[in-house]
Amino acid sequence: MFLMPKKLKSTNKRKKILVLHGPNLNMLGKREKNIYSKISLEKINSELKNTAKELKIDLEIKQSNIEGELVNYIQKASRNGVKGILINPAAYTHTSVAIRDAILAAKLPAVEVHLSNIYKREEFRHKSLTAPVCIGQVAGFGKESYLLGLRALANNLKK
Ligand code: DQA
Repeated sequence: MFLMPKKLKSTNKRKKILVLHGPNLNMLGKREKNIYSKISLEKINSELKNTAKELKIDLEIKQSNIEGELVNYIQKASRNGVKGILINPAAYTHTSVAIRDAILAAKLPAVEVHLSNIYKREEFRHKSLTAPVCIGQVAGFGKESYLLGLRALANNLKK
């Protein structure tokens, strides 16, 4: 009988979540600080990694300003063993049928997050094309939206 070393065993069981940041989120810390605060994307990513460690899950983190590239990342996700998607589609939230279709096709649970409360802002931000194909949405809590979203998704993956 072959006994797998304990360490290897637990690593193999870890689930992978794809974290996707949409356009202009690479500019956090420089753009509209009154809305998004002065937090940088690097800081958000490092807090996500800390939470992931605590939850014993692996993260793959990507940012793109290009709609098609975000679609490609979503398409590759299930092929790469990803079990769920945490996504801030940023401005594409309100416009992208392509990202919505990609999430649907991936057949993976997705959670949409926003730093700001999009329902408190301009009317064109009140509509999300992507939220209806996600299991849920967290908006308005700054970086906590990401951390809460990650916890909710990890919890959903346990079911
Ligand atoms: C955002 C909200 C979007 O409306 C906006 O276009 C963004 C950021 C947020 O995280 O609050 O770029 O997704």
